[in-house]
Amino acid sequence: MAKTAKAASQTLKPSKVVVVKAPPPGPTRPGAKLAIAGGTPVSATPVPFRSTALSQADIDAAVAVLKSGMLRAAKKCEELEARFGEASGARHAMTCANGTVALQLAYEPLLKPGDDVLVPAWSFIATVSMVVARGCRPIFVDALPGTYQMDMADAARKLTRSTTTIAATHLYGCPVDINAAQKLAAKHGLKVIYDAAQAHLATYRGKGLGAFGDAVTYSFYATKNLATGEGGLISCNDDALARKIRLLRSHGETDKYLHESVGYNYRMNDITGAIGCSRLARLAEQTRQRQKNAARYDAILRAIDGLTPPATTDGAEAVYHLYVAQMDPRRFTCTRDEFVNALKAEGVPTAVHYPCPLTRQPAFASFADAKVQKSVPVAESLCQRVFALPMHHDLTDDHLRLIGEALTKVAAAYRA
Ligand SMILES: Cc1ncc(COP(=O)(O)O)c(C=O)c1O
Repeated sequence: MAKTAKAASQTLKPSKVVVVKAPPPGPTRPGAKLAIAGGTPVSATPVPFRSTALSQADIDAAVAVLKSGMLRAAKKCEELEARFGEASGARHAMTCANGTVALQLAYEPLLKPGDDVLVPAWSFIATVSMVVARGCRPIFVDALPGTYQMDMADAARKLTRSTTTIAATHLYGCPVDINAAQKLAAKHGLKVIYDAAQAHLATYRGKGLGAFGDAVTYSFYATKNLATGEGGLISCNDDALARKIRLLRSHGETDKYLHESVGYNYRMNDITGAIGCSRLARLAEQTRQRQKNAARYDAILRAIDGLTPPATTDGAEAVYHLYVAQMDPRRFTCTRDEFVNALKAEGVPTAVHYPCPLTRQPAFASFADAKVQKSVPVAESLCQRVFALPMHHDLTDDHLRLIGEALTKVAAAYRA
């Protein structure tokens, strides 16, 4: 890896999470009328849910490529590969068009049609839909109730004779229990592919996620921690696999118009690469800011009965692509949806990731009958309980104070 890339990566490692106290309570009195019922909202203008604005440096980087006329995948994509690979602890990094084709490019050389693949029931659809697109059978594994990550004990229970691979998502930016996944894989001769679309720069036992598994995939979609609009990357540590993925990415071309194998055009372009490089320079600092915000949220939520902050896998450092809390409907007189509607009226937008487990997606009906659906009770319960609070590097102390106040007010109004 180039020396400059190494130097850059040293500034990219996020620091340890610090536990901080909840901000002081705001002026809302207990029993204040909810905004949804005609009362005064805690925040007159909604707190921004995310922060996606480009900096002038990002714009200049994209304009420089436009001015050069070199729009295809070239130096900027290569620079992003070198720097992101180094920052995430991987030997090889290959940029591509988006996080979905990153999965396809990782799955094609590692999975055979007909394989059974252990997949999370609680994730974004792409992790699993690309397994199905490869002609494999997804075996749905339940989530852990605290960290939301794939439960490797359930994975072990669901192993079949045809299982060849674990395809796990580092969901919301929190690494899965990599130790348990690797142990299970080693015991049964399985491959492991990690979907880190939401987990740029997360670490496990002090190492970047690129150090683990057969391949790791990323998305640089417009709302991701590292966002280029569309974009993705695959990393791995095996030279032969990296070569296969590079060939698949670009029509199997080894020389001009010489095609060693059948492939696709799944390349990134240099405008995207330039934006990625420019934003990568700020990612470590922005990640630290997310982690500080998460510590503030943890303190706020711990003080409210019936609300639970997300737990982190032992040994993992999460990067909080999303900060997903849980609301226990038994502790309130409302449903989660009513709770978040009331928060919205107070000026606190939220989102539900995800409204149902993947086992209930119509797209997977042929792989998930009623018995399979019943076999993921944690995922079934999470979809009634989770909500994501605003999370980004631009959240201010004032935002966090208002959010804390709104949570306290809504929780008090709906107290069972
Ligand atoms: C976990 C996960 N995997 C894969 C993807 C797919 O990435 P993309 O939208 O870049 O195709 C996403 C995007 O939301 C995701 O969150």
